[in-house]
Amino acid sequence: MTRYKREDPEITRRKFINTALGATAAVGTVSLVSALGTANPVFRLTRDKMPPLKGDILVHASEDKEGQPVTVAELGEKLVRAWPQGKDAQGQPLIRKGDPNNVLALYKFPKGQIVAPTNMDATIDGEIVAYSDICTHAGCSVGDNDQQVGEMKCPCHSGQYDPKRACMVVGGPPPRRLAQLPIRLEGSNLVVADFFLENPYPFNESEWEARKKAVEDQLG
Ligand code: FES
Repeated sequence: MTRYKREDPEITRRKFINTALGATAAVGTVSLVSALGTANPVFRLTRDKMPPLKGDILVHASEDKEGQPVTVAELGEKLVRAWPQGKDAQGQPLIRKGDPNNVLALYKFPKGQIVAPTNMDATIDGEIVAYSDICTHAGCSVGDNDQQVGEMKCPCHSGQYDPKRACMVVGGPPPRRLAQLPIRLEGSNLVVADFFLENPYPFNESEWEARKKAVEDQLG
């Protein structure tokens, strides 16, 4: 299994995405869903709620293209949102959107623009990078910063992130950066290469370790 060097930590489904694109009213709902996902003892970790897993294909999350595999040609300095798509118990394709926190942010920057502390081994050719798209402040879906190409801005409380530098926080209230997701190219598909390198929202470090173990135990 590929080992990724860890850097120092800083960081309703379709309704949720739509809300994130144009409004902010779903924050409470998302936070509630997130809390259920980590704290409720009766929460069932079904495959659609599992976090992005090694081998998952990245597919579009936008309404007009939902479920279509993301291609390199579609990526650039503007955010492309994606879901991880794995398989159900019968081996059929399954988009893991049972947990709205699984939304991902994809970017492609010219060679040399993605720099440390981004984990370069977890990018595709140092040009394509993937992060959790969920703000570490209160769980909104982060978008592009319309005032600054290549930066991200949260619609809820104006948290800002730099996707060329490990999605470190560059403004606003988020307590830590967005978690980077290791990806690789397999044919024309972007594929998940491993778990997030650090705890994504809403997990703290120990909860994230517990979640990974629960997934591994369940899948064998
Ligand atoms: S939820 Fe993103 S800045 Fe508050």
